[in-house]
Amino acid sequence: MTRPVDAGGSIAERVVRWQGAHGRHHLPWQNTREPYRVWLSEIMLQQTQVATVLGYYERFLQRLPDVASLAAAPLDEVLALWSGLGYYSRARNLHRCAQVVMAEHGGQFPQSVEALAALPGIGRSTAGAIAAFCFGVRAPILDANVRRVLTRVLGFADDLARPANERLLWQRAEALLPSPDSDLAATMPRYTQGLMDLGAGICLPRQPACLLCPLQDICVARRDGQPERYPVRTRTLRRSAQAWWLLLQRDAAGRIWLQRRPGAGIWAGLYCPPVWDSREALLAALGLEEDSAAVQELPAFTHVLTHRDLHLHPVLAPGAAAAVQEDQPGGWYDAAQWGALGLPAPIRSLLDGLAGDMA
Ligand code: ADE
Ligand code: SF4
Repeated sequence: MTRPVDAGGSIAERVVRWQGAHGRHHLPWQNTREPYRVWLSEIMLQQTQVATVLGYYERFLQRLPDVASLAAAPLDEVLALWSGLGYYSRARNLHRCAQVVMAEHGGQFPQSVEALAALPGIGRSTAGAIAAFCFGVRAPILDANVRRVLTRVLGFADDLARPANERLLWQRAEALLPSPDSDLAATMPRYTQGLMDLGAGICLPRQPACLLCPLQDICVARRDGQPERYPVRTRTLRRSAQAWWLLLQRDAAGRIWLQRRPGAGIWAGLYCPPVWDSREALLAALGLEEDSAAVQELPAFTHVLTHRDLHLHPVLAPGAAAAVQEDQPGGWYDAAQWGALGLPAPIRSLLDGLAGDMA
């Protein structure tokens, strides 16, 4: 009798073998060991799905093909290339990181996990992924997908809200790595990608496809029948809500008044219409009465940020009512111009909708 291709061996051997036979091999950041490309992909993939990242990744690399060009680019250009991906602190850190690599590492990414993790925007897991993919370093990763796979296989039921348990899981992840005697330059990229692929395609949050999993006969969570219980984490983020009243002012040429957001806080450094925290404050700034017909409220919508819900209330005012926040520099932009600015995705949709209405 022949054994199925995935059967037998250590967890690492199974994952490596499974990755070779069933994992993803044609993503554009695979089959390269160039740290700049791998790093860029890992940062984009931190909070964004593969399907979305693909287009952004190619465009970004076409415009900024190496760490030197990224370091030398204006932040505005980096934010514009990032526009729509969300979590813009990633783009700001990316830019700073490139500058640190140029200034402190002679334009070459360092190879150790410790040195990588000391760079802006690179946490321990991303550092591990870059080191493993590019340099065959024997380092664990523990992003959300891999955390799910490993807690399930191991039956690791300790509360990950407690830092001590998180550290323990890192130690367990370290202990599972491919043998130091294996060909690490080959096994580490494959093992790392294999864990990611299992987490993304097999060991899903709901209804994991255990029958396709190379770890099925050694997985504690599967044996106990409740893999969805893992990972265990008690503390839930307390979400807050905030209302933003956005003033959409249009001049006779159909241009919109946009301002650059302050350097800290929500959408830092991106372009946005002026914001007030209530309808009354917005009207007062325009010198209008409570029941004024000079403004038109557009449908409100909610944009979900990491820790809060942003309730957006767009208000359309004719240019005649123009009153801008004088402490914030801004300008009139037409549709062709705002296409090239760093705009938060919901603002871009809003503006595109307005431009469409006028056409
Ligand atoms: N998510 C994070 N890193 C990834 C990678 N290298 N391939 C696919 N998805 C990922
Ligand atoms: Fe996840 Fe099921 Fe595989 Fe266990 S057997 S690692 S629960 S997919």
